[in-house]
Formats: sequence, structure tokens, C-alpha cells
Amino acid sequence: VLADYGISPTHGFLPEVLPLTRLPDPYYNKWEAISANLQALILSKRLRGVIDRLPVLSTIGLEHDAEWRRAYSLLSFMAHGYIWGGDSPSDRLPPAIAVPLLKVSQHLEVPPVATYAAVCLWNFKPLFMDEDIDNLENLATLTTFTGSLDESWFYLVSVAMEARGAPIISLMLEAIAAARRNDAPTVTRNLNTFAERVDDLTALLQRMHESCDPTIFYNRIRPFLAGSKNMAEAGLPDGVLYEDGSGTETYRQYAGGSNAQSSLIQFFDIVLGIEHRPTGEKRDREMESERRGQAPAPKHNFIMEMRRYMPGPHARFLGDVQAVANIRDFVEANRSNRPLCLAYDACLSMLSNLRDKHIAIVTRYIVLPSREVRARSRSRSPVATRKMNLAVASRQPQGIAYDARGAAAKQEKENGKQSNLKGTGGTALISFLKQARDETGEPAIEQW
Ligand code: HEM
Ligand code: ALA
Repeated sequence: VLADYGISPTHGFLPEVLPLTRLPDPYYNKWEAISANLQALILSKRLRGVIDRLPVLSTIGLEHDAEWRRAYSLLSFMAHGYIWGGDSPSDRLPPAIAVPLLKVSQHLEVPPVATYAAVCLWNFKPLFMDEDIDNLENLATLTTFTGSLDESWFYLVSVAMEARGAPIISLMLEAIAAARRNDAPTVTRNLNTFAERVDDLTALLQRMHESCDPTIFYNRIRPFLAGSKNMAEAGLPDGVLYEDGSGTETYRQYAGGSNAQSSLIQFFDIVLGIEHRPTGEKRDREMESERRGQAPAPKHNFIMEMRRYMPGPHARFLGDVQAVANIRDFVEANRSNRPLCLAYDACLSMLSNLRDKHIAIVTRYIVLPSREVRARSRSRSPVATRKMNLAVASRQPQGIAYDARGAAAKQEKENGKQSNLKGTGGTALISFLKQARDETGEPAIEQW
């Protein structure tokens, strides 16, 4: 049944058929050539010219899903390179990218942007075929914007985590089945294994520090992952026009690439019965309005929104698991079973520990470097500041205004405040991540 959702028993949300390193049909050589030289083309500022002259290729030469996935990955790297790889962002995507990207995305049920699937799930290869892909030492990326080790490492840590976490999927589906037949020992055993596995994942996450430098990440890599939604300050007030030749094109807006699009982590929350509320929403307030019988106001739930950025079958899987998830209720109904409660609590605390470590990463990789950039621009003369800000703005779409004088003044006023700092997914990062972490602890079974 996992196969029905495009999930592999051994690779999890990574494809069972490894990503292709090249599209087999030579018809697509131009896409391959551009992607292979992405960093040089961006550096020499020739990428836009090359893509503007690229013919519109048909998707007719794509056969197996692995080919569609490769095409999607290539096209989304080219698209983000096109948008963000110039002195100022481009608010249009020419037909050579827009037309096939829209087709491929529709086929794969993903949005036409660089998602987590495009840059991580479908963008790696094992170095040695006879070694496992949950081992960071056995992984390489296929496409990057910058050609840097740091960028590869940033993606590969996620790939290794997905691979290492893959067996947890069957493990927890088994636990759901065991709870259904009231088999507490099996549920307990599987929960304990789950907790250990999540701890392994945290250890992998911590390896980010080994080979991904925060300054390089913040200034060079991250800007390319930006989206087109709420990006007025970065120079895309309307989003991006996908020139699909229909004559009825409108501007489109998408969130940027984010690991929040990982189905694995959402799967963990779902099986454990962890609920994530809309950002900023307090539990009390929600309960209050429920008590009064009011229909809840329309809310923005970022974590739910991110499901639309996952491959369609993976998102459907999460929805279906949500419908049968019973472990939290089972634990609550068996409060006197101490080993069961302890095992469940261990899972929550391992998962909230993972989120804690992740928050530390976000501080080191985003919050601190963003302060450095601000401090640097404050200490420059107005002219130097202007130049700096333009340079920075082009590489740094998050929260840096194009109006350099205005931006500098604003920065002065804020005096180090991080109020407009946003994640590539569009969240107010730290407060959002802390809320997600705190919610992870919430259903803890307090008394047994
Ligand atoms: C969300 C940054 C690596 C998992 C986020 C968000 C930011 C962020 C800013 C908030 C959403 C947004 O607006 O984009 C980073 C940085 C990383 C990194 C700077 C490394 C340099 C990872 C890795 C994982 C991960 C390797 C793998 C598990 C998540 C998850 C969320 C998230 C699951 C959704 C929030 C949650 O469920 O708690 N990340 N991330 N991140 N990230 Fe990361
Ligand atoms: N979501 C990560 C960021 O905001 C990649 O930088």
C-alpha cells in the first residue's frame, strides 16, 4: 500500500528508483547543459540571456516518473536561478522554463517552484551503489546553484535524514495496527524504537555544522531558495509572471523552499497526535471560541499549507494517516500502563529535542548572519551603504528592501530588531518554530 502513495519501504519519501543523473533523451541536452553549468552561468550573469534564447521543449520525451522528476528538478533550479541570479530579481519566467515547468509540475502534483522535493528528495545520488543512502558519507547532490560544498551539504543532511527515518514509517503504521487490536506491548516497543530513531535523526541534523558555513548559507545559498509570496520588499510585489503563452497569464505567488515541506516530520506529528495550530494562535483562545459555539475564523496554518508543496501522493498519505491515527487516544485510554506512557512521552521529548536543535541552527544560520549584514550596512557611508544594500538585496531577498536609503534608515530605527526577518517559507521563523516545538510537548500524558 505504501507504493500507492509513492512511498518506498526502504527509502521512505525518497524515490524507490534513485534520481536520474541525466535525462536519457538527448532532446533535453540543453536543459542538462544549463543545469550542469548553473553556477558559472549565474556568476557570469549569463543565465538569463541563455534561458531567454532557449527553445521551448516539449515534455513528450519524458517517459518514466524518474524522468519527470529529473525534469522538474532541473527546471526548478533554472527557474530560481533565473529569478534570483541577477542584480535584481526577475518578475517573469520566460516560456522556455514556464511552459515545461507548469506541465511537469502538474504531472507530478507539485507546485512549479523549487520545493523540498526538487532540491532534496529528487536531487541526490549515492557515491557507491552498494552502500546505504542514510550515510552522509555516501551521498552527493546532482544540481546546485552555487557549486559549493556548503550547498550540497545543506541538501544532503536532509536526504540522509529522510533515508534514516524511512523505516519509521512502517514501524509506526504497525503501531497503529497494534493499538487497534489492543496490543499494548507492541505499541510500547515500537514507540521506544521510534524515540531512538528520532534521536538518530537529531544527531544527523547536528552534522549541518560540519560542512555548511552559516555565512555562506545565509548570503549565497538561501537567497536562491526564496519564494515569490509576500516578497514585495525583496522586489517581487506581484509575484512572478509565468509566460506560458496562453495570453491569459497572471502573476503567481508561491512560498519558497523549506524543510517544512518534508513529509517525514509531519508524519511524526500525525502519528503521535501532535496538533499544530495556526501561527500565533493560543490554545485558550481556540477553546474559548469553540465553547461559544462560534465557527473558527479562517486561519493561516503554515504547516498545513506546506502540504500543498509536497508531492501530491505524499500529501494524500499524510491525510489518510491522520484519519486513522489512534496512538495518542490509545495511550490516554491506558494511562495505568506505565511503560506505554513512558514510551509515548519519550517520543514527544525526542521530537521536541529535535525541534530545539533545529531552532539553534536557525539562530546560527539566519538570525546571527542577518544581524551581521545589518551591522555592516550601518557602519558604511551612505554611498557605500547604497551599493552594499543593492548587492545584498540581490543575494538576499528576505527582508532587505531595495530602497537602500529607506532600508538603511529602517535598520537604524530597528536597531538590531529582527522584526521583519522571515523564513524562506514565509514564517516569522523563531516565534513560529518555538510554537511548533512547544506544541510538540503538549499532549504529554501528565499522570499515570
Ligand atoms: C522550518 C530554517 C534545516 C526541518 C524551518 C523554518 C526555517 C528553517 C526558517 C521556518 C519555516 C520557513 O519560514 O521556512 C532552517 C535552516 C536549516 C534548516 C536555516 C539549515 C541550515 C532543516 C533540516 C530539517 C529541517 C535539515 C530536517 C528535518 C524543518 C521542519 C520545519 C522547518 C520540519 C517546519 C517546522 C516544524 O515542523 O517544526 N526551517 N532549517 N530544517 N525546518 Fe528547517
Ligand atoms: N527555510 C530555510 C530558511 O528560511 C531554508 O532559510
